[in-house]
Amino acid sequence: MPTQHVRNGWYLGAWSDEIGRTLTQRWITDLPVCFYRLPDGTVTAIEDRCPHRKYPLSLGHLDDEGILQCDYHGYRFDGQGVCVGVAEQADRPKAALRRFPLVERDGVIWIWPGAPELADENLLPETSWLTDPDWTHVHGVVPLKARHLLLLENLLDLTHETFLHPTSIGNAAVAATPIDVTVDGDRVGFSRRMVGIEAPPFYEKSCGLASPVDRWQDGDFYPPGIFVLNIRVAATGTEEPEGFHMKVLYGMTPARGNETHDFYALGRDYLIHDEELTKFQHEQQLAVMQEDVDALEAQEVMYATDPGGKAESSIRSDLAALRGRRAVAKLLAREQQGDSAPRTRASA
Ligand code: FES
Ligand SMILES: [Fe+2]
Repeated sequence: MPTQHVRNGWYLGAWSDEIGRTLTQRWITDLPVCFYRLPDGTVTAIEDRCPHRKYPLSLGHLDDEGILQCDYHGYRFDGQGVCVGVAEQADRPKAALRRFPLVERDGVIWIWPGAPELADENLLPETSWLTDPDWTHVHGVVPLKARHLLLLENLLDLTHETFLHPTSIGNAAVAATPIDVTVDGDRVGFSRRMVGIEAPPFYEKSCGLASPVDRWQDGDFYPPGIFVLNIRVAATGTEEPEGFHMKVLYGMTPARGNETHDFYALGRDYLIHDEELTKFQHEQQLAVMQEDVDALEAQEVMYATDPGGKAESSIRSDLAALRGRRAVAKLLAREQQGDSAPRTRASA
């Protein structure tokens, strides 16, 4: 099936704690994927479409040896996706399933839906904070009925916090402070330094800080679908290491058509055993994401029905988002021409 999504790239496929011995279907870049764990605990992901008559294998059964049986006519597959037999005949039908390259690291299952020989682990971002004992985090996934590019632009232009999230993380200082944008190969980064500003409610409560505060945002987009935001909030004038540190990871994974899996993790390196604070932050994160989801789904309708005759108007704060858009378009063009993978390596 034709797709408009980049496939030669890492996407967040699932959180480790989502995948066990139950067959789990998830659409990724218009491909049906079946995730499960083999008896030795390793995770595998195969195309969720039986080569016999295309029944979803995720509706089948997994036995104790890790053999997956299609529950329509009984084709059986091993963890590599190779057909090992079928119930009704002695000889083995020639059939194999596509098996996707995966990396399981720091509680994340990364998937590469494109050409397996191009899958390069060095392109993944640094995520050790997800398992670092000095950090704590919450994570999950939210369904989004909008194309992944709209989410990408949302994250690369946090100016919208002022208008879309005024009761939590946004205030006038965000839109009033310009960003610096850097492009490094395919990767796009931005930073915004807000000095001596009023603390938005989320940070005031999260850090117990009174205004004025300094607030820094450094975002990195790893095309095609990973975004990491470093946040620091501190009493004005405090040196960087003494501030409150938070990180947000977004996995923007195209699902099917113009739908997206909006994976998130929000972490902090202070008061890590404060469960009340964790609960508050998680609720706030989900509330903020819901505001984004509502906005992006409304925007999706407008893009989907726009005859496309009129160019968009853009402003200075769109720069990172426009660079991000361009990075994805370049990857897609490269892929369609048969040339391939992202070329930026993640720094340690
Ligand atoms: S569709 Fe899977 S065995 Fe027939
Ligand atoms: Fe937002």
